[in-house]
Amino acid sequence: MPDVNGAVGVSITRRGYLRAVAAVRVRGDDTATVSRIGEPARLRRPDAARDLVGSIIIGSGMDVPDTIVTNDNLARVMDTTDEWIRRRTGVVERRFAAAGEGASDLGARAGLAAIADAAIHPEEVDVVITATMTPDFLAPGIASLVQHKLGLSTVAAYDIRQQCSGFLYGLEMADALLAAGKAETALVIGTEVHGGFLPFGETWANLFDESPHPPTEAEYERNTRFRSWSVLFGDGAGAVVVRRGTDEDTGILGVRLRSDGALFDLIHVPGVGFSRRPYVDASQLDAELHLPSMRGRELFRNAVELMPDAIRGVAEDTKVELEDIDVVVAHQANARIVEGVRRALGMDEDTVPINIDRYGNTTAATVPILFHELRMDGRIPSGALVCFAAFGAGAHWGAALYREP
Ligand code: ACO
Repeated sequence: MPDVNGAVGVSITRRGYLRAVAAVRVRGDDTATVSRIGEPARLRRPDAARDLVGSIIIGSGMDVPDTIVTNDNLARVMDTTDEWIRRRTGVVERRFAAAGEGASDLGARAGLAAIADAAIHPEEVDVVITATMTPDFLAPGIASLVQHKLGLSTVAAYDIRQQCSGFLYGLEMADALLAAGKAETALVIGTEVHGGFLPFGETWANLFDESPHPPTEAEYERNTRFRSWSVLFGDGAGAVVVRRGTDEDTGILGVRLRSDGALFDLIHVPGVGFSRRPYVDASQLDAELHLPSMRGRELFRNAVELMPDAIRGVAEDTKVELEDIDVVVAHQANARIVEGVRRALGMDEDTVPINIDRYGNTTAATVPILFHELRMDGRIPSGALVCFAAFGAGAHWGAALYREP
C-alpha cells in the first residue's frame, strides 16, 4: 500500500465544478505527485506495463443492417453532395436499421456471431459488457436486453457510456474482471442505432425514394442545418469474446485510457437530461436540444493529437516500438481523422486501415467491426501486434496494445 499524506480539500470553480485543492504526496509503488495549494490535486498512477497475463480475444462478430443509404440518397433531403461528403469525411455509404430495431438487436446479433466464431456455448459467457451511445431506452441500458436476447443465464451485464471510446473501455473492463478472477469469459459489444437522433423526420421516406412528394422547403432547410454531423453516422454492431490468456507475451499487453470533461461540449446532446426538470419538454424539442451539437474543427484537432498521444503512451508503457505495431484499429470518426493519426505516427495506409467508406461512423461499434473485418481478411495472424485506439465524446480516449496468440 502506498503512503498518502497531506491535507485534501475542495473549492468550487466559477463554472460550478468541485476542484480538489491540496498538497498530496503518494509514496510506495505509485508515482509521487505533489500539487501546490490552490492547484488541482492529482493522484496519478503510472500506466505501467501489466504484470499479469493479458486477456485474449477468442472470437469476433459483427452485424450491420441491410439497408444502404448512399451520399446521393442524403442529397435528396439536404443541401449536400457526394463529392463534399467523400472528400471531407471519407464516407461513401452507411447502413440504417429499420425503425423499431434497437442497438440491443444489432448488439445481440453481433454477440451471437462472436460466440459462434469462438466456438463456445453461450452458457460459457459469464459477463456481458455493452457499449452504446444510442440505447433502446433512456433507462435502463441495453446490457440486460442483450443478455436476454442471447438467451444467456442471469449473468452480470454492464452498460458502458463512453461513446466512441466505449468498446475500448469495455475491453479494459473485461480484461480487469478476468484478471481479478471475477469472470472466465466476457462478451464485449459495441453497438449503435443512430436513426433516432438523425433529424430527417418525414424525409426518411425520401431517402429511399418512397415518398410521393419531395421534401418541403422547410424540411430541406432543417436537414441542411444539421448536415455537418448528420452525414457522418451509420448503424452497426461489433463484438468480441474475451478469455484469460495463458502467457504474458500475448493478449492485452497494456491499456491507456484518458478522459477530460473540459472537452465535454466537443460533441454532446445538450437537452433531454436529468439536470432539467422535467428532463424533456416541448421547449427543449422546439429548440432541437435533443439533437447532437458538434464543434467539428476543435473535435478534429483534439482527436488527431490525443489519439496518437495515447498510442505512443501505451507503446511506452509496454516497451513496444511504434514500428513493431502491425495494425492500428482506430475509431472511424471520419477518414481525415484516421489519416491525421496515421501521419502523426508516421505509419502507412496499410497499417492504419479505414472502412468508414462502407459504414460511416458507427460510434462504439467502429473498432470491433473493423477488427472483425481485418481478422476475417487474415490481417491478424498469430503474433500480430494490434493497437486499438479511440477518441470520442466526453471526451474519452485511449489506446490498447494486443498481441494475437
Ligand atoms: N455538405 C456540404 N457542405 C457542408 C456540409 C455537408 N454535409 N457540412 C458542412 N458544410 C459546409 C459548411 O456549411 C461550410 O460552408 P460555408 O463555408 O459556406 O459556411 C463549409 O462546408 C465548411 O464547414 P465546416 O463545418 O467549417 O467544415 P470543416 O472543414 O470543419 O469540416 C467536418 C466539417 C468534416 C465535420 C470537420 O469539422 C471534421 O471532420 N470534424 C470532426 C468531426 C467528426 O469527425 N465527428 C465525428 C463524430 S464524433 C466522434 O466520432 C469522435
